[in-house]
Amino acid sequence: MKNIAVIGAGTMGNGIAHTFAQNGYKVQLIDISEDSLKKGMDTISKNLDRMVAREKISEEQKQETLDNITTYTDISEGVEYASLVVEAATENTELKLKIFRHLDQNTAEDTILASNTSSISITQIASVVSNPERVIGMHFMNPVPVMKLVEIIRGYNTSDEVTKTIMELSEKLNKVPVEVNDYPGFVANRILMPMINEAIETLYNGVAGVYEIDTVMKLGMAHPMGPLQLADFIGLDVCHSILEVMHEGFKNPKYAPCPLLTNMVRAGKIGVKSGEGFYDYSENKKAEKVSAQFSS
Ligand SMILES: NC(=O)c1ccc[n+]([C@@H]2O[C@H](COP(=O)([O-])OP(=O)(O)OC[C@H]3O[C@@H](n4cnc5c(N)ncnc54)[C@H](O)[C@@H]3O)[C@@H](O)[C@H]2O)c1
Repeated sequence: MKNIAVIGAGTMGNGIAHTFAQNGYKVQLIDISEDSLKKGMDTISKNLDRMVAREKISEEQKQETLDNITTYTDISEGVEYASLVVEAATENTELKLKIFRHLDQNTAEDTILASNTSSISITQIASVVSNPERVIGMHFMNPVPVMKLVEIIRGYNTSDEVTKTIMELSEKLNKVPVEVNDYPGFVANRILMPMINEAIETLYNGVAGVYEIDTVMKLGMAHPMGPLQLADFIGLDVCHSILEVMHEGFKNPKYAPCPLLTNMVRAGKIGVKSGEGFYDYSENKKAEKVSAQFSS
């Protein structure tokens, strides 16, 4: 495998492109937005600068990594020579189905088609491809260049050969792949999201404040950050939509998003990316204000 096409240059797409390029692969980074491509390349460059400053890579390796990436706004052109396509576009079922229909028509029959989706069924995505055995989930974690895990999701029709190739490829990226089956939330989010939702429910019920809940989980359970802060980093809109997928997929009320989470998403307080969620990121000290507002 030499040419890897990455669709979407946002948070995950630029991290995935960075990781492949740093490991010597030629990457075709594709996004419909010129602005996203520019921002994505700037982010990769800044992250590489940080690695140079920490003496993890040389200036020469930084340049080689950047030289390995070419950007495209035309998806057909970008995927033409790819042995693997990793789709990391916006989390929206209709959009992903549209992209995979296009890939079905515009890639070689043996090109492996992977999705980085957090929650959408790989089996459903594969259903629009004429040979669904080549479709697989490759769920990288954020930030991609740093996080070791890749959750490899086998759709109902994914072949053994494709799974083996993707497991081995992940190891070549210095990651640890873990194979799981395709059910709502896979493994990572099936366990993480109910914990985050329960932390929000605990706040909503007035049992404790933001600071108290996060501190209990950080110091008591040795989590590197509390569940409410983690939700802010993931994006409350993303957490909400993953819970909805599990709620709908299992028809089990235990996955229903907490009303406070729904309200915060409707109010546009979706975490770090909007400047405010359970903490306030617009000014340093305002985090305490949000905490006090919800404190019991
Ligand atoms: N953010 C996370 O922590 C995280 C973690 C794991 C997986 N994921 C998954 O990764 C995927 C991407 O998430 P993100 O956080 O990087 O989103 P993002 O919003 O940062 O980036 C999405 C990018 O997709 C582009 N895009 C939209 N439609 C497109 C199209 N038709 N063709 C090409 N590009 C298109 C957008 O312009 C944007 O740049 C989602 O499926 C998400 O569930 C996200």
